[in-house]
Amino acid sequence: MTAASGTVTQPPLPVVLLISGRGSNMHTIATQAARGELPIVVRAVISDRADAGGLALAAGMQIPVATLSPRDYPDRPAYDAALATLVASYQPELIVLAGFMRILTANFIAPFAGRMLNIHPSLLPKYRGLHTHRRALDNRDEVHGASVHFVTEELDGGPVIMQARVPVRPDDTEATLAARVQQLEHRIYPQTIDWFARGRLSLRGQQAMLDGMALTAPVTIDGD
Ligand code: GAR
Repeated sequence: MTAASGTVTQPPLPVVLLISGRGSNMHTIATQAARGELPIVVRAVISDRADAGGLALAAGMQIPVATLSPRDYPDRPAYDAALATLVASYQPELIVLAGFMRILTANFIAPFAGRMLNIHPSLLPKYRGLHTHRRALDNRDEVHGASVHFVTEELDGGPVIMQARVPVRPDDTEATLAARVQQLEHRIYPQTIDWFARGRLSLRGQQAMLDGMALTAPVTIDGD
């Protein structure tokens, strides 16, 4: 598309977000998109749980929402195949997992290889899986954080693009630590999506590429 000024503008990248819970990352991303601060258009928000708080937030922003319950499918591969079909029906160029709390199989991941991002509340490769804040506290870590990574078939194991680090305070509880980490999640996830939408970020094999260079370490920001 060519604007009147002669500058070339890209159409916004179609995105589908998957959530399971309150959807604060989804809301941040969708709000920035609606304000024109992110070059994406949110085609749909999909949840595996009808009670996910984020569904109401998305519907309130006039974003199409859908729920696909695992209870309606005999097993994980069958659910993942149905989820892939539903997501593909919105023709997204990028899938954003934003607190989608399910282990995904190849049936879902393969069709979207290199086009799916996840945010995980730890400094990967530390603490894959659940209860990351508790594990960081139990281990008396001095630094904790969150990571944005490409999704591959290895659980929480795809190439990490960006990380946010926060110091762990002596009086931190799981809740206070999680809250500080989440504040930074709301910065690193939009930044990563922005890079992808502008064609600056891609996955080549198992390697994340930013501006044509292999990312040998995640881009990192520090909070307090
Ligand atoms: C986020 O903190 C995200 O890092 C985490 O779920 C939370 C969702 O919050 N994701 C995972 O644990 C994935 N393994 P939100 O619904 O408010 O965005």
